[in-house]
Amino acid sequence: MENVEFTARPLERDAKIYVAGHRGLVGSAIWRKLEAEGFTNIVGRTSAELDLKDRVAVFEFFAREKPRYVVLAAAKVGGILANNTYPVDFLSENLQIQLNTMDAALEHGVERLLFLGSSCIYPKLAPQPLKEEYLLTGHLEPTNDAYAIAKIAGILQVQAVRRQYGKAWISAMPTNLYGPGDNFSPTGSHVLPALIRRYDEAVQDGVDTVVNWGTGSPLREFLHVNDMASACLFLLENYDGPEQVNVGVGTDVSIREVAEIVAAAVGYTGAIEWDASKPDGTPRKLMDVSRLTEAGWKAQIGLREGIEETVAWFRAHRDSFRA
Ligand SMILES: NC(=O)c1ccc[n+]([C@@H]2O[C@H](COP(=O)([O-])OP(=O)(O)OC[C@H]3O[C@@H](n4cnc5c(N)ncnc54)[C@H](OP(=O)(O)O)[C@@H]3O)[C@@H](O)[C@H]2O)c1
Repeated sequence: MENVEFTARPLERDAKIYVAGHRGLVGSAIWRKLEAEGFTNIVGRTSAELDLKDRVAVFEFFAREKPRYVVLAAAKVGGILANNTYPVDFLSENLQIQLNTMDAALEHGVERLLFLGSSCIYPKLAPQPLKEEYLLTGHLEPTNDAYAIAKIAGILQVQAVRRQYGKAWISAMPTNLYGPGDNFSPTGSHVLPALIRRYDEAVQDGVDTVVNWGTGSPLREFLHVNDMASACLFLLENYDGPEQVNVGVGTDVSIREVAEIVAAAVGYTGAIEWDASKPDGTPRKLMDVSRLTEAGWKAQIGLREGIEETVAWFRAHRDSFRA
């Protein structure tokens, strides 16, 4: 494959690393991973402390903190409903967050930066599994095209900075993520946390039938966020190329199977039904992760084990998770 450069270039453990979005699902996992790997100078700001849409504040922050490395895991993120209902928010906020952070990072000499996008950047009808080179080869899925265009602009910004300034900045595109710290909101969440919440509530309420949208047949790929964090550090230390790198497990499961695993994990013993009159969404979404696996990185956490752990986290944080 062209432009693939995997060579070990370790990060200094005592250099300052800014994790943008450090309270989010991905950012918090990256923070935990960096701490576990001995990083001693990690900085983060909540959106209330530093709104990355505020260009002046972002430049002031970089001028003051002068991080040497940046992980850009701050974004306006949501499920299909939120993306479809508020497209301009997803476009505008993400463009602003990325542009301000990367412009300030360039101005203040950030050596290595990891930008995070998602699998929705690939064309709706691209062949499966999705390979990195399918970027910009066809039309996007219309329900989240605004978000995808913002993310594609981010990938292009990373590539342009590499080309114009020779910086070792890179992009990673994770598949569907889940795990501790996820968004369990009934309107804004992704499929797996939504299922966990629904089945957990069914247990709490003594409900004996749960009806899910669609047929349950669509296939999806799920990666535990701790694996994602491990892949991010691996890429920062081993990858230095212009193309985005897919991050996933390389295999998919049906939504029906996921619902069954979730039901078992929460202790739900009632009926699981499917309302086929509701839309299924795209039949399959699987990333080709051969570039990453060939470089030596592989996911470690199995789906059943990961879901059980996430259910335990959800129950422990039931009263404090995001509304
Ligand atoms: N979750 C997934 O399944 C998934 C899949 C593929 C890719 N990704 C990508 O991974 C990245 C992170 O996603 P996530 O799931 O971790 O999202 P998340 O849990 O919603 O976290 C996003 C974080 O971004 C911060 N943020 C949002 N707007 C901000 C602003 N204006 N200023 C400063 N900070 C702001 C938030 O900070 P506060 O908490 O302080 O408000 C939040 O902690 C995104 O780029 C996303 O595209 C996620």
